[in-house]
Amino acid sequence: MTTPPERAAAFGPGRVNLIGEHTDYNGGLALPFAISDGVTVRAQRLSDPHVQAAATDLGERDEFPLHEPPAAEGWRAFVRGAVAELQRDGVELPGARIEISGTVPRGGGLSSSAAMEVALALALVALAGAPEPDRLALARMCSRVETRWVGAQTGLLDQLASLCGREHHALRIDFRSLEVTPVSLQLGGHHLVTLDSGEQHAHAGSGYNQRRRECEEACRRLGLDSLSEASVREARTLPAPLAQRTEHVISENGRVEEAVAALAGEDLPRLGELLNASHASLRDHYEISTPAVEEAVARLRAAGAIGARIIGGGFGGNVLGLLPGDAAAPGGAIEVRPGPGAHLLSSA
Ligand code: GLA
Repeated sequence: MTTPPERAAAFGPGRVNLIGEHTDYNGGLALPFAISDGVTVRAQRLSDPHVQAAATDLGERDEFPLHEPPAAEGWRAFVRGAVAELQRDGVELPGARIEISGTVPRGGGLSSSAAMEVALALALVALAGAPEPDRLALARMCSRVETRWVGAQTGLLDQLASLCGREHHALRIDFRSLEVTPVSLQLGGHHLVTLDSGEQHAHAGSGYNQRRRECEEACRRLGLDSLSEASVREARTLPAPLAQRTEHVISENGRVEEAVAALAGEDLPRLGELLNASHASLRDHYEISTPAVEEAVARLRAAGAIGARIIGGGFGGNVLGLLPGDAAAPGGAIEVRPGPGAHLLSSA
């Protein structure tokens, strides 16, 4: 047996979802990619069964027992949750000193949470000297951190995008089969930017969990396992707002397939139309937009974006724009392109 390392470090990227929003927990399709911004976790072995954690960007600390850590709020919930859930999966963790730092804005819809969970999981598994679980198992473990420890009933989109990301590619994810297929992201001279709406969000506290409950209720009434199985005719038998939520899911799945085809055919104008149609559906049928988000989308379109839309859970955060090469993005916009998925930085 090899000696477990004294230290381990890992990086988890944030993600941008090109299209396919609020489809993951509905057994549908999405097309995200990992970005180059993310969270880095450095872990060092301690001899006693304690965890000391520091969020260096926030200047905050936490300390808790390794076994059965008590619940906590904010970033501490993610760390305690990762430590508890990894042990629950049979990883024999040592006591550790953990340092967390990141470049992805918190509450900005770019999956700072998944980036942190994923980096924590990879660094701690390496520090334990344990074999790395497969990426799907890791995504599920990270998702349990959100549902059990943070109280956000999120799906697997963010974790899979962060863990499976690939340079120059988006990932077509089928949430029914959990099949992940890289799709080359050639934008024919266009570029993608994110623009902050200036409004922060937290899934646990926003309308996110309520949307999930509405989808479950729609499934129950239709006698289906997932809303992606519903037909438009069935959707129209439901009362408002369940009919609108269901119509969004059905149409959004179709747009993901069309976006994959538009990319394959290098049809950028079509991709732009699909992004705009996705935004309209999320605003009018899913009702997760806000005035600040609408303003950010309008700024992108005024700058020449051929497609712009809200991304992530909604109720604030960043919006995404697809701009022709000669269009200057509005001030504050940041270019995004697909970067590598989560990885170990070192262990020794
Ligand atoms: C958040 C959640 C994801 C997904 C998106 C909406 O990012 O964490 O699971 O549901 O919202 O597509």
